[in-house]
Amino acid sequence: MTRTSSLPPPGDIVVRLRDVSKTYLLGAVAVPGLHELSLEIGRATFSVIVGPSGSGKTTLLNLIGGIDRPSAGTVEVAGQDLGGLGDDRRSDFRARNIGFIFQSFNLIPVLSAYENVEYPLLLTRVAAAERRRRVMALLDAVGIGDQSRRRPNQMSGGQRQRVAIARALVKDPVLVLADEPTANLDSRTGAQIIALMHAMQTRCRTSFVVSSHDPQVMEQADETFTIRDGALIDRHCRATS
Ligand SMILES: Nc1ncnc2c1ncn2[C@@H]1O[C@H](COP(=O)(O)OP(=O)(O)OP(=O)(O)O)[C@@H](O)[C@H]1O
Ligand SMILES: [Mg+2]
Repeated sequence: MTRTSSLPPPGDIVVRLRDVSKTYLLGAVAVPGLHELSLEIGRATFSVIVGPSGSGKTTLLNLIGGIDRPSAGTVEVAGQDLGGLGDDRRSDFRARNIGFIFQSFNLIPVLSAYENVEYPLLLTRVAAAERRRRVMALLDAVGIGDQSRRRPNQMSGGQRQRVAIARALVKDPVLVLADEPTANLDSRTGAQIIALMHAMQTRCRTSFVVSSHDPQVMEQADETFTIRDGALIDRHCRATS
């Protein structure tokens, strides 16, 4: 059962969008991506973005993740206005604070599962012993500790997505964004991956924002945001009683 929620208290907000528009230019043609969209996402929640193909889900995640810039409006993550950062500082902020999970896994093919998860930490000052501890703890937590030496092409789709979940969490990010993470998986594996993401969200006390067409994903949501034609048309949160 769902109910339309009230907004979360200000200190508990990890993502805040204000009147965000995104227009893509295809030559001389302006293609609308998002139109004056405002939303707030609570800290340590599992949120799902739903909407038909072309409604703006990927555009929205790319703006929240600082991969792209809005044409108008502001995007704040953990209190930081991303528009106030230059490209280098925005990349740095993203690398430190946001984990990404993709539909097509996006692992580095020549690296083992262990090395893929360790990779984001190589750009930080985390010492080698601590890196090893964190990577193995996460590989164990996502259920593939015994496959740490395998390369992506020696693993199933579900196993690859488990590696991607561990990689997204290894820096202890404030936010993890996942764009249709079950789209390339069969429905049983997709259900396992969603259950795992939710379990890891609870365990790590981070926020997950997941876009999906998959009803199994929506069932897991603390909050569901529905977008259509680049606008937010509905917001529901799971009833707590
Ligand atoms: N790089 C781009 N250049 C031009 N138009 C784009 C670009 N990316 C997205 N669009 C347009 O912006 C709108 C929103 O696209 P978006 O990819 O965000 O939708 P989506 O909800 O993720 O769709 P899907 O479910 O198919 O992945 C669409 O009309 C799309 O054609
Ligand atoms: Mg998309």
